[in-house]
Amino acid sequence: MPKFIINGKKPLSGQIAVSGAKNSALKIIPASILSTEKITIKNLPNIEDVTRSFEVLTDLGAKITYNGSEANIDTSNIANNELNAKMADKFRGSIMFVGPLLARFGEAKFPHPGGCVIGAGGRPIDLFLEGYRAFGAEIKEESGKFYHIKAKHLQAAEYFFPLVSVTATESMMMTASIIPGTTILKNCAMEPEISALADYLNTQGAQISGAGTPIMVIKGQNKIGAGEFTVIPDRIETGSFAILAAAANANLEIINCQPEHIMTLLKIMERIGVDFEYGRDWLKIKKGKRPLKAHDIKTHEYPGFATDLQSPYVVLMTQAQGISLIHETIYDRRLLWTDMLSQMGASIIMCDPHRVVIQGPTPLFGKRLISPDLRAGIALVIAGLIAEGRTEIDNVYQIDRGYEKLEERLRKIGADISRVE
Ligand code: EPZ
Repeated sequence: MPKFIINGKKPLSGQIAVSGAKNSALKIIPASILSTEKITIKNLPNIEDVTRSFEVLTDLGAKITYNGSEANIDTSNIANNELNAKMADKFRGSIMFVGPLLARFGEAKFPHPGGCVIGAGGRPIDLFLEGYRAFGAEIKEESGKFYHIKAKHLQAAEYFFPLVSVTATESMMMTASIIPGTTILKNCAMEPEISALADYLNTQGAQISGAGTPIMVIKGQNKIGAGEFTVIPDRIETGSFAILAAAANANLEIINCQPEHIMTLLKIMERIGVDFEYGRDWLKIKKGKRPLKAHDIKTHEYPGFATDLQSPYVVLMTQAQGISLIHETIYDRRLLWTDMLSQMGASIIMCDPHRVVIQGPTPLFGKRLISPDLRAGIALVIAGLIAEGRTEIDNVYQIDRGYEKLEERLRKIGADISRVE
């Protein structure tokens, strides 16, 4: 299994480019099933989860050309509506194929999705199942958490999400786009990736209004046409690199990004004393007075503090002066990784599965670590880069799932990081 070897405390500076957003690409690819015309997707991140998505789509019968950044997809000959269980088990994003398959064929078979271990009970999909039923589908759960959904005829729905879910919102939006009638979704997630998906489907002839707000109205179309989409910048990569620069007190220019998508983080950075300036598609973090001031955060659905930036922010708070309370409200296992940070020298008390208290600043020391999920993985990389001595991070696949050529980009700004098989 490949691992990262990091020798910490090297001075970092320079420019780093942000890739296309994983959590946008993982929806645009399955959305290609909704149209039988040519689909072109640009600025794709070259990461494991995108490769997994193309494996699933090819297995269903699509014709795909992909050069690591741009893909042309033809789903006109898809005849199979059963997700390959082995492939689907590798990532959470596999669930995004089900809604489009149901909308196009009136039927879909799929396993409970795999992926990160951050949600209780293996990332529940009850909202998806409730949503499919709202469209008139019947669901049979076969042995070993394999689902068979079928609908004699699909009907538009009025559905109120009992809790805000990014992928459940996207799944129902995609399904509704080609079901006759007007679907109304309430208590929707408002992430930028959802607005990007709606804009893209609308260029293909869909009629989706209200994306990015809690209420969406979707007028189903008989068919939607060809599409061309440029994946939006990855806001979580942007925030992760900004936090790295702040933690390492480095001059770092982050380009090909969209700072307006991480405003909550930037407002917090202002308060803790990070020096930065930004424009439409760039963000400059500057060396400045240290130590930073500790500041509590509570993760929240967009536009609140992104749960995917909680792990890197915890590392930053180990270098800030004072006590900070980190309240992870979205997932109940997403703070377990902080035990490894404590082993590196951080002073962290776990109050309960949703809350830790950090006392800083504390020096960090290199350790042998294992990446439990991609966001804790990047946090451990950041910790290794600012720690004294050598850090080894195993299970780098989890990091490769979401960060393209990470070690190459970090070496370019002065990091001593290498990948060893
Ligand atoms: C998306 O996951 C992202 N993944 C996650 O990023 C991100 O952390 C999350 O949104 C929150 O921003 C993708 O877009 C592929 P949710 P998603 O449904 O949609 C519960 C990363 O690191 N829930 O908004 O799966 C769920 O357990 C990943 O890139 C149900 O109870 O998250 C969680 O507690 C990690 N039943 C809460 O809702 C359901 O049917 C919010 O999760 C679905 C979700």
